[in-house]
Order: sequence, then structure tokens, then C-alpha cells
Amino acid sequence: MESIEEGYFELDLKGNFTFFNDSLCRIFACPKDQMSGRNYQTFIRDENRRKIRRIALNVYKTGKPQKIINCDIIRGDAKNSSLEISLSLLRDASDNPAGFRGIARDNTEKKRLEAQLLQAQKMEAIGTLAGGIAHDFNNLLMAVQGNTSLIKMDLASESPHIKRLEHIERCVASGSELTKQLLGFARGGKYEVRPVDLNELIRKSSDMFGNTKKEIQIHTKLNKDLWNVEADHGQIEQVMLNLYVNAWQAMPAGGELYLETSNVSLDEQYVRTYEANPGRYVKVSVTDTGKGISRSVLQRIFDPFFTTKDKSRGSGLGLASAYGIIRNHGGIINVYSEEGKGTTFSIYLPASDRHIVKEDSVIPQTLTGNETVLLIDDEEMIIDIGTEILKKLGYTVYTAESGEQALKIYAEKNDAIDIVILDMIMPGISGAETYEGLREINNDVKVLLSSGYSLNGHSEKILEKGCNGFIQKPFNITDLSIKIREVLN
Ligand SMILES: Nc1ncnc2c1ncn2[C@@H]1O[C@H](COP(=O)(O)OP(=O)(O)OP(=O)(O)O)[C@@H](O)[C@H]1O
Ligand SMILES: [Mg+2]
Repeated sequence: MESIEEGYFELDLKGNFTFFNDSLCRIFACPKDQMSGRNYQTFIRDENRRKIRRIALNVYKTGKPQKIINCDIIRGDAKNSSLEISLSLLRDASDNPAGFRGIARDNTEKKRLEAQLLQAQKMEAIGTLAGGIAHDFNNLLMAVQGNTSLIKMDLASESPHIKRLEHIERCVASGSELTKQLLGFARGGKYEVRPVDLNELIRKSSDMFGNTKKEIQIHTKLNKDLWNVEADHGQIEQVMLNLYVNAWQAMPAGGELYLETSNVSLDEQYVRTYEANPGRYVKVSVTDTGKGISRSVLQRIFDPFFTTKDKSRGSGLGLASAYGIIRNHGGIINVYSEEGKGTTFSIYLPASDRHIVKEDSVIPQTLTGNETVLLIDDEEMIIDIGTEILKKLGYTVYTAESGEQALKIYAEKNDAIDIVILDMIMPGISGAETYEGLREINNDVKVLLSSGYSLNGHSEKILEKGCNGFIQKPFNITDLSIKIREVLN
């Protein structure tokens, strides 16, 4: 009896424990002396009591054993567990009901693993969908942005239309914020990966955030010898801002926000359920002293479009994109929360030995040129607008609406073409194959990759192969003009 892993117990008709093995005490995290004579109901969560009493009554009436699948208990140490219990009737010598006996199995870990797996699968499916939407949407925004820029360039600066055009540009900017969130949880939506110092990222982003939100106190505890990570700076910043905003919204009357970084090693056991690799990680935690998250909400917080906020405040994309971004970086994000006390989000990103390369920040200016560009995109809209923009910037432009067409043009004209702007995702031969083809014609071809979305990290692979630069749609004239100069100079 003492050697079996399952808990064995007997109850009298009132539901008091009369007999049990050591395993039961372990499962209930309750010492033997406190178990003896205690009523089983003291362990059961309120919302479960009626269900369990009904099952017990059934066993009593019919004499037939029954299973209780999700028996949620509060253990002796106040933690939650989920048990599976087989309950049957205990009879005395004259065959009258004398109580119950049962076997209890702890299913908490199994349930957690199942839930996590389900979550991962769900996010993957939605990620694919989101990526597709973001891609199409970015192309539309791109056309709106491009047309607006072109009209603005033609207007005199005192024109009354300038204000309206600027309004349109702000709408495009909000729209592309939204697609950025969508791309966050799209699979493979990770572009500009370079070594990042998370301490600095956190310092800057939290300063900026703190300046506008005086009602919360920000405390930072940043490890001085923090390892670097390889990440898309913009995306990680987006994750942090989402977490800050959530924390702030959870503390309407003000409160404390703790930001902490540390180096950690995660073992096989820990990473197993997250589809991550064991090894060195940089841990970032964001803790607030807000209202906390209830159990039922906790299960859904990473779902896209799940929100408890009213429409004007939340779209429910913040944590979904955070989740996707961290997953795309091979990292882990999880949450711990106590209602009424606060919430901690922990992020783990794989550590890297690569060093940071400092970059000067300059105020962007539109740069012109007089070289020749081959613009490849399957969207007519992008070709039209792109051609106009490039001509305005001083370039001579060839266009191709497919990879096949592009290779044909490049084979004929590669002496004249200085740079190729290549869309990642096209029907027919893909951006990647087109790139290969261009390289076969001229190994030194200069290529600027453009995309609204990259499927399964394709663009990353092309970049690794030696592509010269990447620009994310929707781009404006200034961004494009700078990227072109970067590649050409
Ligand atoms: N720090 C927190 N404290 C309490 N609840 C939180 C916290 N962070 C997230 N939540 C809960 O998780 C839900 C989902 O968060 P998420 O950031 O994904 O969406 P949102 O904040 O509602 O909307 P959006 O971020 O798109 O503006 C929130 O509506 C809120 O109920
Ligand atoms: Mg949010």
C-alpha cells in the first residue's frame, strides 16, 4: 500500500478521512496528522463541491464505482492541483454502505503539458493566417503611403491639402503598427537580427515610457555582466512596450513596475515543454503591482484578439504578438500572477557570444541617386508606385512582375543595372529562387530585399546568403532612398 504511487484513501459516510497511504499525503501536500479525520470538502475548490457531492451520492445510491476526471483541489500548502479519482462504495460486514474508498492520481503536470501543446498548435495555425493578412495589408498600405508621398512632393508647402495628406500618413503609420503586431505572431516574421544588449534596450524603452506615465514608479535591476542576445531590436522593443502598457493599464491608481535582467541556464527538463533548446539564456522579467489575472483569464491571455479591456483600449494583440516574437527568436515567455497582488512576465532569449556593433543615429533625409534600378514585385500597385518614387529620386527604372521576367531582363541588361529591389513572396519562382538566378548571372549583383512578410524565415536565409539589405513594407520614400544608398555605397 505504501509503495504505490497513487494515493489510496477511505472516507466515512460524512466524508472524513479514516484511512490513507503516504502517497495521498504527498498528493494533498498535507501531513499525516492533519489528514486524519479531516473532511475531504476542505480540499475541494468551491466551484467543484456540488459536482463531487453529486458523484458521491450516485456511488452511494447505485453502488457502482465512478471516475472524477478533473477534481481540482487546493492542497495543504495552498497550491492548486488537478486530480483524477476513482471512487467506490465501502460496505461493512453486513453489506451496508459504510463509506467510500478511492484511488487518487495527480494530473496537474499532464494537464499543464497538454494545455501548453494545444496553445503552441493554436498559435501556429493563427500565425500562418496572420502572416497572410499582414502581407496583403502591407501592400495596400504601401500603395496608400506611396501615392500620398508623391502628391505631397508635387504640392507647394503652403497648400491646404498638405495637412490632410499628413493625416493620411498618420493613418498609414497606425495601420502599419497594427500589421507589425500581426507580423509579430506570424511565423518567421523576424527580419533584422543583430546582437542586442537587452539592458540598454530596457533602459531606453522604460525611460521613454516612464516619462509619459508619471503615476507609476519604475525600478530597474539590470545585471551588469548581462550576455548579449541576437534579436530584431525593433520587435523586442515592441514586446517590452506591450508589457509596460499592460502593466500600466493593470494599475489604474498607479503602482510599481520592476524590470530585472539576469543570465540563466535552462536545462532539458525546463525547456522540454516549450520547444526550445537547453542552454544559456538572458532572462528579462517585468513585474507589476497591479490587479493580477484570474485563473480563467490567464489561460487565454496569449490568444490573439483576447482582451478584457473595452474596444477603445485594447485589441488583444499585445501579448499574442509578444508570444510570437519571442517564439520566433527561439525564446520562452511565461506568466505568473496573483489576483490582487500583481503579475510577472518572464522572457528568456538565447544568449549569444557576438559583440554589439555601435551605429550612429542620424536624422533621416531623403537621398537621391542616378543609378539604374530593377524593381521586381508581383503587385502591379507596388510596381506603379515604386517606379514613380524611384524616378522622383533620380533613378532609371526597369520593372518586372515575376521572377521569370526579372531574370530575363537581368540577363540582357545586367551591365546597366546597379541594384535590384526584390520582393520576397511572389507566385511562380520565388524571391529566393530569383535571387539565386540573379547571382548566377552576376555573382556581385546588389540586391535589396523587400517584403511585407516573410514565410518561415525565408528572407533571413537569403540575407545570410549575402543579400545586401532588407526593407520592410510599407516603406516611405525616405526609408527606401536611404536603404538604396546603403546598398550602393
Ligand atoms: N500585467 C497585467 N495585469 C493584469 N492583466 C493583464 C496584464 N497583462 C495582460 N493582462 C490581461 O491579458 C489580456 C490580454 O493582453 P493583451 O496585451 O494581449 O491585450 P490588451 O492589452 O487587452 O490589448 P492590446 O494590447 O492589443 O491593446 C488583457 O486584456 C488583460 O486582461
Ligand atoms: Mg496589451
